[in-house]
Amino acid sequence: MTTGIDRISFYTSRYCLDLKDLAAARGVDWNKYSIGIGQEIMGIPPPDEDIVTMAASAAKPIIDEVGVEGIDLVLFATESSIDQSKSAGLFVHGLLGLPSRCRVVELKQACYSGTIALRMAAMMVAASPTSKALVLCSDIARYDLGSPGEPTQGCGAVAMLVTAKPSLLTLDPEYGAHTEDVMDFWRPNYSEEAFVDGKYSTRIYLNSAAESWRQYAELTGRSLSDFARCCYHIPFTNMAAKAHDRLLKESGIREDRKEITAAQVGESLGYNRMTGNSYSASLYEGLACLLDTATESLDNKRIGFFSYGSGSVGEFFSGVVTPGYRDHLYTDRHQTLLESRTAVTVQQYEDIFNLSVPSDGWDYSFTEYQTGDFRLAGMQAHKRMYEAVS
Ligand code: COA
Repeated sequence: MTTGIDRISFYTSRYCLDLKDLAAARGVDWNKYSIGIGQEIMGIPPPDEDIVTMAASAAKPIIDEVGVEGIDLVLFATESSIDQSKSAGLFVHGLLGLPSRCRVVELKQACYSGTIALRMAAMMVAASPTSKALVLCSDIARYDLGSPGEPTQGCGAVAMLVTAKPSLLTLDPEYGAHTEDVMDFWRPNYSEEAFVDGKYSTRIYLNSAAESWRQYAELTGRSLSDFARCCYHIPFTNMAAKAHDRLLKESGIREDRKEITAAQVGESLGYNRMTGNSYSASLYEGLACLLDTATESLDNKRIGFFSYGSGSVGEFFSGVVTPGYRDHLYTDRHQTLLESRTAVTVQQYEDIFNLSVPSDGWDYSFTEYQTGDFRLAGMQAHKRMYEAVS
């Protein structure tokens, strides 16, 4: 049974900060951000935008196009959870008018959770081929002001429709996985910002990629030249380039690694460079970018994926692009979204970052900022109140 991604839609906030301005404010050489870590702009979520509104806005074009019929599973992947009990997916279920015969849960394992959501959805659709599943990956990356992680912040959501006749990509069954209990990045319940040992997490990521790839390669007999392109989890775009370089090195490739990496990975990085890290969504933001922007047709071509979630779980897997996939993309929408954002100043970014809203859960209305199709209107008696934006 073939299952995979039938539609992919990406959303990010309507505000952004040019990292040139952040570099000037922090007294950092701009080349460190643009060349050293490979980021240009970061997405800034206004106070009335959260993982629910971003995920619902990402999914809406899919629902508008294909309808809700047959969607009997929603898996919501995030590490920016808004409730310890109720799945963020249930708010999206309500906002999008999904069927009542639809199971909804939230999944967590740092940036990896979107991948297990995708693979579980594919397995459940394989068991019931007339059904469809909606995978939602939505996150806000937040580090301390002035910390090394600050320029890699960002936000975004990706919605993927998983079906038995996927118009975009059929998932291969094989995978390689690597898990180890480490403290490279974590966010305790009492903290709004992540704790991270950035250099250590970079090393763990690379080791996890190498181990996952080694297993996958042994299992399938495939080599890196069997992939037309590779997509990686992208905390910052140079991390993806470093990871591919490591896999090429592990595969005994001595020459032209920079050029090979640019050819196999470069086309997946453009959106992340303009939004920053979107944690669970970032690998799939990379896939959306690749499908939208690849200059040659990827029909029938195999794509490799490495997903990484700190803590840590890594998985290397693959899929084959469906012929005619270009007829089923939201390329114009994605590009308009990225080009039409409002730039904020460093002062405005810091004001939004530091804005403290009452945390006692009692009545509160959020000022209306620019958002996508939905916004968080406020809190009433400990309940989050969402609304459609007309
Ligand atoms: N021009 C060009 N490049 C420059 C530069 C300049 N003026 N100044 C520094 N650089 C390069 C460095 O050489 C380095 O490149 P390298 O990694 O290829 O060696 C890169 O820019 C980053 O510089 P570094 O000093 O290592 O950055 P940092 O200590 O400030 O922070 C991270 C880097 C990744 C640790 C930080 O962004 C972070 O903590 N991120 C959050 C966690 C994360 O993303 N983890 C990854 C796994 S999920």
